[in-house]
Amino acid sequence: MKKVDEVFLILQNKKGPLPIWEICKELEISEKEVRKAVGRLKAYGYVINSEKNSISIVSKPDRLYPWEIKYHLTTERIGREIYYRAVLESTNKIAAFLAKKGAKEGTCVLAEKQTKGRGRQKRRWFSPYGKNLYISIILRPDLPKSKINYLPFLSCLSVSDVIKSFSDIHVTLKWPNDVLANGKKISGTLVELSLSGKKVDFAIVGIGFNVNMEEDDMPEDLKKVATSLRIETGSNYDRALICANLLISFEKYYDLLQVKGSSEIRSLWEEKASIRGKTVSVANEKGVFEGVCEGIDENGALLLNTKKGIERIYAGDVIL
Ligand code: BTN
Repeated sequence: MKKVDEVFLILQNKKGPLPIWEICKELEISEKEVRKAVGRLKAYGYVINSEKNSISIVSKPDRLYPWEIKYHLTTERIGREIYYRAVLESTNKIAAFLAKKGAKEGTCVLAEKQTKGRGRQKRRWFSPYGKNLYISIILRPDLPKSKINYLPFLSCLSVSDVIKSFSDIHVTLKWPNDVLANGKKISGTLVELSLSGKKVDFAIVGIGFNVNMEEDDMPEDLKKVATSLRIETGSNYDRALICANLLISFEKYYDLLQVKGSSEIRSLWEEKASIRGKTVSVANEKGVFEGVCEGIDENGALLLNTKKGIERIYAGDVIL
């Protein structure tokens, strides 16, 4: 795949016909190898013009091929290795499998569609083909276990930044792992851990982000509660560009958490969630808690000032 990546990047950077000999020279490969890579790009759905021994990309398929993402990527670790398949059961499941086999921190698993996309609390994540982002990031965090609850905040902040930079949608964050656009869910995160004793061996941060999905793509029950960039703005988005921006933001927040601890992430999250001082109800297996929200604590728990005093809620769903 390396040659396909490299030939794509050269053609993409040039944005016009490029003589084959120049590609051969730059990549130090033969004309036969260049033609083979071009043939593969065509098989992946690219329309490529190869006239008079010059090559140019005419049009591209709407796919999350790793080279399309890497073209925009400026990260050091996150997304430097990408495992991509058109259809997977769950990107989190494959990411855990790869992590067990020793995949590097930052390795990402991406799919166009998931047949068994996992949501929190054993729910399913609706994952139609070629519309949204389903991405799992393998992390080997140098963090105490108590800070692991902060990982979903990193992805929520990143998704929120991306939405802000591509649109003027009103975005809020909902504890613990949701991003809402104009009040409806546009993104959710599922973090799954592998522990060796008390140490986190690896964490999988699975992010579902609804990008180009339309209302007609969704089952009836989802239409009331879920949305996408496309639904909110009426425009289609370049998913590879969105994905690269998401990974860039994620790396920035992940580094901030590891270097500076949780306090800055906590303030950023609380500000974007604008949850402090609001009366909220949270449901979990212990019951329903109601109180005035005092923010999140150093371990990521929601602090609720209830009639019985301060409750720290570690898991549950905020009822809006
Ligand atoms: C939730 O809000 O319930 C969390 C949803 C997380 C969905 C993503 S999509 C990519 C990754 N793979 C999965 O199977 N789930 C997560």
